[in-house]
Amino acid sequence: MRIGCLTGGGDAVGLNAAVAALVRGLSEDGVEIIGILGGWQGLTGTHPECTRLSPSDVMGIVSQGGTVLHTSRENPLKSEDKMQRVISNFATLGLDGLVAMGGDDTLSVANELSVRGLKVIGVPKTMDLDLSGTQYSVGFWSYVESVVESLRGFISTCTSHRRIGVCEVFGRHSGFTAAAIGIATDADYIIVPEQELSLEKMVNTVKAGYTKKSTALVVLAEGIKLETGSKGKIDPHDNEMLSQKRIGEFVAKTIEEASGIEAKSFQAAHPFRGMPYAYDSVIGYRFGAAAADMVLLEKWGQMVALVDGDAISGKIALLPISSFKPRRLMDADSYLYHMVASRNDCVI
Ligand code: F6P
Repeated sequence: MRIGCLTGGGDAVGLNAAVAALVRGLSEDGVEIIGILGGWQGLTGTHPECTRLSPSDVMGIVSQGGTVLHTSRENPLKSEDKMQRVISNFATLGLDGLVAMGGDDTLSVANELSVRGLKVIGVPKTMDLDLSGTQYSVGFWSYVESVVESLRGFISTCTSHRRIGVCEVFGRHSGFTAAAIGIATDADYIIVPEQELSLEKMVNTVKAGYTKKSTALVVLAEGIKLETGSKGKIDPHDNEMLSQKRIGEFVAKTIEEASGIEAKSFQAAHPFRGMPYAYDSVIGYRFGAAAADMVLLEKWGQMVALVDGDAISGKIALLPISSFKPRRLMDADSYLYHMVASRNDCVI
């Protein structure tokens, strides 16, 4: 048997652990593993871009951030020619199946290939936590933990200078990252894409918090709906580069102008993606090992999902790949959603 493996979309901690577990699990059974390089880009060129993977190639990568297979935002669904290239490169490589690790875009392609009859298995990854079907996708806690850690320094300088701090975090559609980071750092105001924002209410709450403590903190997701007059460039794969909008800077300026209190902004973007925390290494390893079992049992067209618990106690379930849809947002009935809303309604 010969199996391909790729990682697509933004890199996330836990991908390397998943690759390592997959390679070890399959090699034990004599399966050959071909690492496709750069996500779907590795299959959309005239020739496939790939490397053979053996257990010695994955030594020492379990706790490393990023992805040794490289990644890209290439989405062949945007061009039928590219889909055809993927299908023909799959055949050229003589693949009996493919394990695709990624988020919404990557799994959409995996799902379509599976609908077209190719043998594909999905592994969920996104630090935004915006995939349905699974309670967890690798990358979330590593990002959250590393931002929370670095915010200690930001908070101490804001406190020393009696300033207001505004921290912008990744989170394109969903507010899970902003909510978790905001609660963990005891922010005065948390702005998430799922909730309406009144700039006036936010400024008043932050000012009131400042009156009590001589400092205040706002945590916001980059994807909040707020007209700033600037747009991020569109990347070669049609995604707006949200970090270029510098929405945190805009909010800090708005607070400063409305309150007369100095406000500093901090953008917790790319460097925080790759700081590894053990939770993602553990769950990534479990996902990779489960994907290896699925290959051996020929459970094609399925994705690995975590259900009923966390990295240690949770069960791994197999679901149709399409289960990652619809996009998972903070549910208006959820505990987290209410916690964010009620925090914004009071002064800390
Ligand atoms: O993977 C999702 C994400 O983390 C988004 O929150 C963010 O908008 C995007 O990645 C940034 O991606 P890139 O690395 O392509 O700039």
